[in-house]
Amino acid sequence: DPVPVLTIDGPSGSGKGTISRAVAARLGWHYLDSGALYRAVGLAASWADVDFSDHPSLVRCAFDTDIAFREDGEREPRILVNGVDVTDELRTETAGAAASAIAAVPEVRAALRERQRGFRRPPGLVADGRDMGTVIFPDAPYKVFLTASAEERAARRYKQLKDKGVSVNLDSLLREILARDARDAQRTVAPLRPAEDAVLIDTTGIPVEEVVERVLSLLPDTL
Ligand code: C5P
Repeated sequence: DPVPVLTIDGPSGSGKGTISRAVAARLGWHYLDSGALYRAVGLAASWADVDFSDHPSLVRCAFDTDIAFREDGEREPRILVNGVDVTDELRTETAGAAASAIAAVPEVRAALRERQRGFRRPPGLVADGRDMGTVIFPDAPYKVFLTASAEERAARRYKQLKDKGVSVNLDSLLREILARDARDAQRTVAPLRPAEDAVLIDTTGIPVEEVVERVLSLLPDTL
């Protein structure tokens, strides 16, 4: 039997990261943070002074950048790009905007496709992103699409960044998130949209634990 995959797609701040990690821990499955790959390539490209309109150089970054996830106990895993711990830097909205810009380039998406599929290893994978259920793992037996109101998503990101000591303005964060979501939803290649066979869950006002239980209830008890 193929290795089972649970895809969790949705816009930024929908709770994907938190929910996906919790569900993966409960199942004892691997976890793919595909957004971190796009963020890491965007960062590597800016380190190398690559112009975002120079697609061949972006593709080289997508193939050559060393991206490693290192477990950190109960906390979010650390992310190393070419050996440097950039976990906090990658979470900023600047890194998110860079990721969203390079993610609109079809050749960059193609370059990251097999790398993402390589995360599918026994006993199973929880894959978090925008196109996990539509493009990367269309055959996944379990698919979820998370949403939440824009205000709540901005408030969550605000809290996340503040807890990390990053100073942000809630209004500009809301504007930046709406702009990034609009770009992700309107791009021609792999736009943000639910797979036809995805279960939609609106997480507005719902505690994390409850969303985790709802997601887990979609999988058979035997897993
Ligand atoms: O999920 P995260 O906010 O880290 O993603 C950052 C950006 O990377 C998104 O705004 C989106 O443009 C891009 N992305 C993507 N496809 C994915 C994951 C992320 O295009 N599977």
